[in-house]
Amino acid sequence: MAWDERQQRLLAAMGLRVWAPPAAGAPAAEAPAVAAVAAVAEAEAAPPVRARPAQAVPAAAPAQAPAAAPWSPATGALAGLGWPELREAVAGCRACSLCEKRTQTVFGVGHPQAAWMVVGEAPGEQEDREGEPFVGAAGQLLDRMLAALSLTRAADGEVPREQRVYIANTLKCRPPGNRNPTPEELAKCEPFLVRQIELVRPRLILAMGRFAVQALLRSDEPIGKLRGRVHRYQGLPLIVTYHPAYLLRNLPEKAKAWDDLCLAAEVFEGRAGGTALDALQPAQ
Ligand code: URA
Repeated sequence: MAWDERQQRLLAAMGLRVWAPPAAGAPAAEAPAVAAVAAVAEAEAAPPVRARPAQAVPAAAPAQAPAAAPWSPATGALAGLGWPELREAVAGCRACSLCEKRTQTVFGVGHPQAAWMVVGEAPGEQEDREGEPFVGAAGQLLDRMLAALSLTRAADGEVPREQRVYIANTLKCRPPGNRNPTPEELAKCEPFLVRQIELVRPRLILAMGRFAVQALLRSDEPIGKLRGRVHRYQGLPLIVTYHPAYLLRNLPEKAKAWDDLCLAAEVFEGRAGGTALDALQPAQ
């Protein structure tokens, strides 16, 4: 199979090497006999696996944030909030016990009017320290994957909307020890993500990992069953793919994530092929 230039950039960014037959007369390289793509082992150590945790406590507004009304998922009080108020509400949230151990909340990053939105899981240690999603090893892989599609998290006004990505997590606080989020924590935090998506109104959502999928598609199906087709979230196309931290631990799966990104790019550009469009999911 011949990879086009973008596909080759994407493969390289994800640490995948394409095997090409040697040019006529050239010495035979150590090419794999069958596989066209070989995973290249990466130096990065696998990030800690998240486990599953505890529960939540009632919501409260930030102490000194008069602009942001106290919110509660039950009352839907986030509905009218703009970016500054939403950010304040997140910063002051004490809806669950994660607030007790956090260094700070991790709101989101990127241009507020991005055409792409990436939804991940929860801040890790480094994100908790720096206050920005995906800044650790998984984030570096994510940035390389995005760059291969000429996408960026930079909130730079010079970047065309089509190349801007807004990145947010399902949880805004770090689960201690990087354990998995609990259903209660996810439920408490979800209104923030919902409002972020409403405000960004991206043209496409990339849901990375099972917690993003659970939050956005209400599905417990494994990623392997959900990827490869176009889903819908509030009418927006949504592509499911593996979490970058998972890819760092399971290098051969990178080829699948690469396929997912290619599908996302095709959908974004309105040139998704039959399989994807045939499988369009009804709006959630
Ligand atoms: N993993 C995530 O899902 N989000 C982050 O911000 C960092 C790691």
